[in-house]
Amino acid sequence: MNQDFPRLRSQCCLLFAALLCCFCSGKTQEPEQKNQKTRWKIGMSQCNLGEPWRVQMNQDIQKAAALHSKIEVFFKDAQNDSLRQRAQVEEFVNQGVDVLIVSPKEAVPLTPPIVEAHRKGIPVIVLDRKIASEEYRCFIGADNREIGRAAGLWVRTRLNGKGRVVELKGLMTSTPGQDRHLGFREAIDGSQIEVIFEADMKWLEPEARKEMESALARHKSIDLVYAHNDPAAHGAYLAAKAAGREKEIAFVGIDALPQEGQAYVNQGLLAASFEYPTGGAEAILMALDILTGKPVAKNIKLASRVFEGKTASAKPLPAGH
Ligand code: FRU
Repeated sequence: MNQDFPRLRSQCCLLFAALLCCFCSGKTQEPEQKNQKTRWKIGMSQCNLGEPWRVQMNQDIQKAAALHSKIEVFFKDAQNDSLRQRAQVEEFVNQGVDVLIVSPKEAVPLTPPIVEAHRKGIPVIVLDRKIASEEYRCFIGADNREIGRAAGLWVRTRLNGKGRVVELKGLMTSTPGQDRHLGFREAIDGSQIEVIFEADMKWLEPEARKEMESALARHKSIDLVYAHNDPAAHGAYLAAKAAGREKEIAFVGIDALPQEGQAYVNQGLLAASFEYPTGGAEAILMALDILTGKPVAKNIKLASRVFEGKTASAKPLPAGH
C-alpha cells in the first residue's frame, strides 16, 4: 500500500493537470470566439460632404473609432439628396450593420427608413438634424432653439434693442433651420429689431451670397445679418464687400469651427459665431455603449458657446428675457 501511494499520487496529479489544461484552453478559446463576434460594423449615413462642418463630423467619427479595434465604420455620402440618403440607409440595413448613425438631410423623407431600421432591431443614432418620429435609439446634438435664442439675445444687446436685420435661414425642411429661426424670433420679440429681409439659403454659401445681393439691392440700410451657419454669414459678408458696404453691417453665424467660423471672427469678418459641435466622437461612444449593453440616454444634448471679439474668445451663451 505504501508502495502504491506515490503511483496513485502521480496519477492524480496527471489527472488534475489534464483537467486544468482543458479548463484553461476552454477559457482562452471563449474570448477569442467572442472577439471574432465583436468586430462590429457601424454604418454612417452623411447627408453631404460639401461643407467643412460635415467633413469635420466624419473626421471626428473616424478619429474616435480608430481608438477601438473592435469597430469598423463604413461611410456613405448622400451628396445632399434626400432620396439617395434614404436608399443608402436601406442599403446599410440590408447589409446588417450592428449600429447605424444617420445625420439626415431633411426630417420627413428620412423618417420612414430610420423607423424601419429601428423596428428591425438595428440601433439607430440620429445625429445633428432630427427626424419626424421618436422611433430611434438615441439623438445627439446641440439645442438649436436655444442657440437661436442666444443669438437673438446677443443681437439685441449688440444693437441696443433697435435695428434692421437680414435673416439667412438654413434649409427650412431640416430641424436646425426651423429651430434657429424660432429661437431667434422668440428672443427679439418685443424689441425694436425688425427683420427686413429673410430667405432660405439651404445651408449653402453661394445661395446665401445671392440672397444677400438681393437684400443689399432692396435695402439702403442694414445693421446686421443673422445667418444660420458660418458659410452663409461668410457668403453675405462677401456680397456686402463687393457692394462696398461690409463695414456698416455686422455678421453673425453658427458652427464656430476653429478653421472656419472662429477664424472669420478672428479676422474681423464676423462679429460672432455660435458653436455647434459635430457630435461625431459622442456618436462613437454611444455606439460602443449600445454594443456592450450599457444604458444609453434617448437624448444627448451637446453644449454650445459664443466666439466673439478680436481674439475670438469663447463665452457662455447669453441667457435671459
Ligand atoms: C452643414 C450644416 C452646418 C449646420 C448644420 C445643421 O451641413 O449646414 O453648417 O450647422 O448643417 O444641420
